[in-house]
Amino acid sequence: MAKYAPLMSGPSDDDAGYEVESKPNFEPSSTSSRYPMLLSVLMALIAIAAAAAFHLNVLSMAPQREALLRPKDVESSFRIARPSPNLDKGHETMRKMRFKFPRMVFPMFIARANAAAPDEVYESGSSVVLSPTDSMIYHWRTNSSWPKCYLTAWVSPAEELDAGHKSYKSGGDVTALEIWNLSSPADRNSLKTMSWNTRPGRVSLLGTVNFTSRSTQNRLGYLDAQELKAPTPRFDCPGDTEITVEVVCASCRLEFEQVFSMPPLGFELMQLA
Ligand SMILES: *[C@@H]1O[C@H](CO)[C@@H](O)[C@H](O)[C@H]1NC(C)=O
Ligand SMILES: *[C@@H]1O[C@H](CO)[C@@H](O)[C@H](O)[C@H]1NC(C)=O
Ligand SMILES: *[C@@H]1O[C@H](CO)[C@@H](O)[C@H](O)[C@H]1NC(C)=O
Repeated sequence: MAKYAPLMSGPSDDDAGYEVESKPNFEPSSTSSRYPMLLSVLMALIAIAAAAAFHLNVLSMAPQREALLRPKDVESSFRIARPSPNLDKGHETMRKMRFKFPRMVFPMFIARANAAAPDEVYESGSSVVLSPTDSMIYHWRTNSSWPKCYLTAWVSPAEELDAGHKSYKSGGDVTALEIWNLSSPADRNSLKTMSWNTRPGRVSLLGTVNFTSRSTQNRLGYLDAQELKAPTPRFDCPGDTEITVEVVCASCRLEFEQVFSMPPLGFELMQLA
């Protein structure tokens, strides 16, 4: 037969005359079973009182001035998920091992060539205009022991550009601007008098670059580790090297000023150690 046994208290508790096993159960009227019931009620009350006292104590210990955390605070105290968690570690390792970061080479010549005004000669300057009828001719010269180069479109995050008073206007698809290698001009100075009609001929397509802003790219998770890939394939550029390219955008419009200051915005030659 099933026995009813109230929760036992520890041996240290007052157990005068309290022997559950020796007494028959289901005797609510008997004094011996009413006593443990009263005891357990008393203990429950003590426990509740103790809990309440502890709670009050905790409340009174909490600093009065400190407001409760708002959801936003909690959120911001979470570890921020980084798209490339090993990037910092990689940079750290590179610094420790004294590896060299890619070096940016600033162009010596930036000029527009306009198919709609094919004989117009545009002065070299910082203004970049790309459209289905406008190309940009860039010329770089480097003399370094670093043997490899690639070309990239560098677009700093929007907030950095704002802070640096830089901006760009774009329309259409700027994700695959073509970079054409041009035949080396016999004389670098001849570029100064170059028009659409007299620009150096295209030799080969070096690759495409993505002008989409870094912040947009960072927002798109599926582009993780995109920067590990050089925008154009690397090419040899040891010692005294000159390269002339034409940036072409067949279905977009892009306008900005390429100035040599932070934050970077423009087309760059990057050189690798
Ligand atoms: C390139 O650099 C090397 C080593 O610094 C130097 O000897 C050489 O004259 C430079 N070439 C030109 C064309 O400046
Ligand atoms: C670009 O074309 C020139 C020929 O005009 C060539 O000497 C040079 O190696 C080419 N550069 C690349 C990166 O393909
Ligand atoms: C360029 O970047 C955008 C996002 O920023 C991406 O959607 C697109 O696929 C990229 N295009 C190329 C050709 O890499």
